[in-house]
Amino acid sequence: MAYNLLKGKRGIIFGALDENSIAWKVAIKAKEEGGEFVLSNSPIALRKKDIFELGKKTNSQIIAADVTEISELEDLFDESIKILGGKLDFILHSVGMSPNVRKDIPYSELNYDYLMKTLDVSAISLHKILSVALKMDAINEWGSVVTLSYIASQRVFSSYSDMSHAKAMLESIVKQFGYHYGVRKKVRINAVSQSPTRTTAGAGVSGFNAFYNYADAMSPLGNADSNSCANVCIFLFSDLSKQITMQTVYNDGGFSSMGISNKLIQQYIDGDCKE
Ligand SMILES: NC(=O)c1ccc[n+]([C@@H]2O[C@H](COP(=O)([O-])OP(=O)(O)OC[C@H]3O[C@@H](n4cnc5c(N)ncnc54)[C@H](O)[C@@H]3O)[C@@H](O)[C@H]2O)c1
Repeated sequence: MAYNLLKGKRGIIFGALDENSIAWKVAIKAKEEGGEFVLSNSPIALRKKDIFELGKKTNSQIIAADVTEISELEDLFDESIKILGGKLDFILHSVGMSPNVRKDIPYSELNYDYLMKTLDVSAISLHKILSVALKMDAINEWGSVVTLSYIASQRVFSSYSDMSHAKAMLESIVKQFGYHYGVRKKVRINAVSQSPTRTTAGAGVSGFNAFYNYADAMSPLGNADSNSCANVCIFLFSDLSKQITMQTVYNDGGFSSMGISNKLIQQYIDGDCKE
């Protein structure tokens, strides 16, 4: 069911790689809710071509931009405002990548050039997007920017490696920039901390199935899927959340409040009995 929550609103959605991507689901729902937007991804990601199908489905144009390159972001904002016919009301930053995780490098032996790349792509890129947008005055008052985080920003998830540093930094940028953009232009900035979700980035983390199954067994509501994440993003883009900013909103079925669940207690009791 759609409620026209984004009617008359214009945006940019970063990070739809294929139909499993969280950004893909957000784009579909943003369209259903009456929003108009430009889709963006890195030049390499566009080679996968799936995004063009999403472009057709949502009647949106696609513009390549590497989120680490300021000049590409400037061109993207410039072109998007022209295409959409006015300043922006919402931005989804759904971007993450760690060469250390991809290459399965042990945490205690991180490659530091890769670490810089992880931080640049997965966290500092949000700062760059916000900084370019503020300089260009590209976002309307009460506009809303949403990024995607994971609870490994706060707690240890042993194989999440340097992505945990990126997420901690990302959530910190949400707060810091949320203040600066808020006082100057009344623009809101929030993160959604999402359950483990089967996507290209998610499945790249070693032991992903264990993350997924453990969180599912721990959470009273079970894992939150990517469609429910998209719903939260739409709410945060909409005027219904006008006074919410600088927050990390947990879309995780209750996982972040848990210590242990009966399901897991049972599993370990059974495990003890077998030994
Ligand atoms: N999947 C999960 O379990 C999960 C859980 C919590 C948070 N998240 C976060 O959600 C966000 C989206 O990831 P996803 O799970 O949908 O996976 P995904 O692989 O579909 O999306 C990641 C996107 O980042 C893009 N990207 C990487 N480098 C880029 C660059 N230099 N410039 C522009 N784009 C670039 C990729 O092309 C891709 O579209 C990420 O921030 C991820 O950390 C995912």
